[in-house]
Amino acid sequence: MNLIDLHYTEHGQGTPLVLLHGFPFSSSLWRDQANGLADICRVITPDLRGHGASPAPEGTYTMELLAQDVLRLLDTLGVEKAAIMGHSMGGYVALALWRLAPARFTAFGLIASHAWADTDEGRKARYSQVNAVGERGTRAIVDAMLPRLFGPNLAEDEPIKETAESLMMATKPSGVTGSLRGMALRPDSSDLLADIDVPTLILCGDADRIVSLARAEAMAAALPNATLITIEGAGHLPMLEQPHATTLALRTFLNDLDPYKKAERL
Ligand code: MLT
Repeated sequence: MNLIDLHYTEHGQGTPLVLLHGFPFSSSLWRDQANGLADICRVITPDLRGHGASPAPEGTYTMELLAQDVLRLLDTLGVEKAAIMGHSMGGYVALALWRLAPARFTAFGLIASHAWADTDEGRKARYSQVNAVGERGTRAIVDAMLPRLFGPNLAEDEPIKETAESLMMATKPSGVTGSLRGMALRPDSSDLLADIDVPTLILCGDADRIVSLARAEAMAAALPNATLITIEGAGHLPMLEQPHATTLALRTFLNDLDPYKKAERL
C-alpha cells in the first residue's frame, strides 16, 4: 500500500480532535470550527488524499486507503488517541478507521454522513461521474453536486455558495475520480454501528438533501452511546451554512467528555 504524507493544519493544544472533510472539499471547510474550538482542544484538520494541498495520485481511493493515510499522519504527529469525526465522505473514512484501529478513538462523529454502502444505482452514477470528470474535469462533479448542497432558505447570492464552489473546483480531477471509485467500493458499515462504543456525535442539517435526517436518527438508535444534534434549516454543509451553530454543537458534545471539560468555559 502506497501511503502518502497528508497536508494538515493544527489549531490549539491539548486533547486532539481530528476533523475529516467531505468530498470534494478540503480542510478549509472546517476553518470556523478549527478556530472556534482551538481554546479547548488540539484541532487537527488533514487534507485527505486527492484534496487540498495533499498529493492527488491517479487510482482508486478506497476508504481504507484514505483511513491508512490518516493513521499515518496521527503516528507522525504522535497522536495516540483522538476524537475523530468526519463530514460525509470523511465520515466513511472515519468508519474505515474504526475498522482498522478502534483503540485510537476517544470519541467518534458523523457529520452529514452515514453508514450505508451505495445502492447499485448510486454506484452506477459514481462511474458515470468518473467518465464525466474525464471529459469535462472537476466542473462536471461541481455542476452535479452544487444544486443539492444547501438548505432551501439560503439566498441565491449567499457568498458561501461561491466559497463551496471554489473549494470544490480546487480539487484535481484525479482526486475527484479516485474518491468516486473508492466511495463506490465502500462496504456497508451499518452493522458496525453497534460496536462503536465510544461517545458518538451524529450531527445533521434537517434540510440535508444528501443525507436524510431519517438516516441520522436510525444511526443514533443503532449506536450504543450516541448524541444526535440537528441543525435546523441547514443542508449538507452545516459547517459553512451555520458555522456558529455547528461549532456550538461540537463544543456541547465535547463538553460532556472528560478530556475536553475546558469547553465549560463557553
Ligand atoms: C460528500 O459530501 O462527501 C459526498 O456527498 C459523499 C457522497 O457522495 O456519498
